[in-house]
Amino acid sequence: MLIVANWKTYLTLRQSENLAERIVALESGDRQLEIVLCPSLIALEEVAEEVVESKRRWLKVGAQDCFWMERGAYTGEVSPGELRGLGVTHVIVGHSERREHLGETDEMVRRKVHAVLAVGMTPILCVGETKAERVHGSAESKVRRQLLAALKGLGKAHRRELVVAYEPVWAVGTGEAVAPEEAERMHVLIQKVIGAPARILYGGSVDKKNITAFLRQRHVSGVLVGGASTKYSSLAALLRAAQSISSSVDI
Ligand code: PGA
Repeated sequence: MLIVANWKTYLTLRQSENLAERIVALESGDRQLEIVLCPSLIALEEVAEEVVESKRRWLKVGAQDCFWMERGAYTGEVSPGELRGLGVTHVIVGHSERREHLGETDEMVRRKVHAVLAVGMTPILCVGETKAERVHGSAESKVRRQLLAALKGLGKAHRRELVVAYEPVWAVGTGEAVAPEEAERMHVLIQKVIGAPARILYGGSVDKKNITAFLRQRHVSGVLVGGASTKYSSLAALLRAAQSISSSVDI
């Protein structure tokens, strides 16, 4: 079971360090549970150092984005190799906020997925439909299209290493999560399109009240959490809920 905490641009460097410190201090004996902290770029080095030094096998660090080229004249970008050098193991790719605000295209997302895999990290590929697409009955075709574009040229071995996050755009940051059974239906479709046993997360307004219902779905292997992962009390509550499903751990 995988819990990805996407801190977006919510926390300052100091707040990110503090939150990471408190998570590192947790005792987890649960081998089924893996937690990936994704701080903003500015806090990545400090949080990664904290996590790597803690030697907590259940705790990892992820980046919220990266570029697809390793070196060159790409002002403002950060390469997969540089992230890897910090101890980063996961990279969120194609988040809907980047697709929307930064104009990230399916082709850019495909390049990023390949680049992340090429240096041995795990891409967390985000896909999902808008409200209008859902209303018009094209949610499935949108998700299928985004997936096929991102997976183009990837062999089975690489597909297996992928993490895909199903994040309906209208559910991200709105407090309006999709129905868990609806997420399950989409996850089944995603699994079919991938054609390999990759892990599929649900993301979009996950909180301590609904997390259990999502994690109980057969094809939901975890959650990607934004807002509710940015405060210790609510992140700890999410982890407790996940652990009570997965096995027993003290938090
Ligand atoms: P949210 O964000 O949990 O705040 O809806 C989820 C995400 O961006 O992945």
